[in-house]
Amino acid sequence: MTAPAFDAARARADFPILATEVRGKPLTYLDNAATGQKPQVLIDAVERYYRAENSNIHRGVHYLSEQATDAYEAARAKVAQFIGIADQDEIIFTRGTTESINLVAHGFIETVFQAGDEILISHMEHHANIVPWQIAAEKTGAILKVVPVDDRGVLDMAAFEQMLSAKTKLVAITHISNALGTINPVEEIIEKAHAIDVPVLIDGAQSTPHMAVDVAALGCDFFVFSGHKVFGPTGIGVLWGKREWLERFPPYQSGGDMIEKVDFDGTTYKGIPGKFEAGTPHIEGVVGLAVAIDYLMGLDRKGALLHEAALLKAATEQLSAIDGLRIIGTSPHKASVISFLINDIHPHDIGTFLDADGVAIRAGHHCTQPLLKRFGVPATARASFAFYNDFDDVDRLVKAVQKMQKFFG
Ligand code: ALA
Repeated sequence: MTAPAFDAARARADFPILATEVRGKPLTYLDNAATGQKPQVLIDAVERYYRAENSNIHRGVHYLSEQATDAYEAARAKVAQFIGIADQDEIIFTRGTTESINLVAHGFIETVFQAGDEILISHMEHHANIVPWQIAAEKTGAILKVVPVDDRGVLDMAAFEQMLSAKTKLVAITHISNALGTINPVEEIIEKAHAIDVPVLIDGAQSTPHMAVDVAALGCDFFVFSGHKVFGPTGIGVLWGKREWLERFPPYQSGGDMIEKVDFDGTTYKGIPGKFEAGTPHIEGVVGLAVAIDYLMGLDRKGALLHEAALLKAATEQLSAIDGLRIIGTSPHKASVISFLINDIHPHDIGTFLDADGVAIRAGHHCTQPLLKRFGVPATARASFAFYNDFDDVDRLVKAVQKMQKFFG
């Protein structure tokens, strides 16, 4: 017996925006690597929260505050379950992947890095996993080392092994490249780094929307992702870190709710996670994130992944057949992301042309300037798919690109 195919039409119906028109055309939303659309259950939950539950958390003695606190902490447990983590105190809510990485960088600056230490990243990192480490290196005298990628956008694992040494104090690497779609062999990276006691941070911003990630099984030391890319609210994200690291790090921000006792003679802090959540947090974001995660966990994620792979295959084949079209990023292990160029048409013109047909893609450097420089281009056009996209979306993308190609001759 074969499993029933993933029901993309059913999933699509859960996202009201996908049934709308833009510029008089049906919306073809292919900018999922930038942000995911939101299911109706999330929209309803956020509305319900503001209508019936809104209150500040942790401090109140009244009914609503208890409700909001319970919802907030239940969301922490939900996130832990989502990534396969047993200890929910190891889940820290942040503004997003960027802030999560900055928090870890701050911890390493304060407690680990010394002059001459090495930080290992890859050439395909998003700026969010480059700049915090550059600043950390500037502040401490540590050295940033960059593992190269080949012409397909595949990580050079031989170079990684050569560059990994006793001087390496952290490996920080993306699970999936936002610009190319390359899926990195993170299991192997973690295994090799751990063999010489080097901790590993995995940037899961682009993997969590496409696949179920069991962080405990991966065995990394830090895992970060963003709420809005997993079809939740913007402005909320997650840092998971091993307890021993998080306990070792000093507070990242300070103020209300992260303290145990404040006195002008000195202040003591809460343990984790509170120590890292100063001030009133993004409560509505956390509540919404839990609902989005619940929605995702209710999907057939293996089926969704296969469905996305089929969309990627169809779009890659049909786009590749277009005269002058070049795909940047041809790793054999790829998520449903296609970066492309057509002759010398500027990617912004591609994006604008496609937009007139209701096709939303991203054009630009995708916050990966060093990577695009490696490929000798300043920008690309990028179509990125989610589980709710279908073959009509592929069709409309391909037709719009063909039309443009004819227009520009
Ligand atoms: N990092 C997001 C992207 O790739 C914004 O588009």
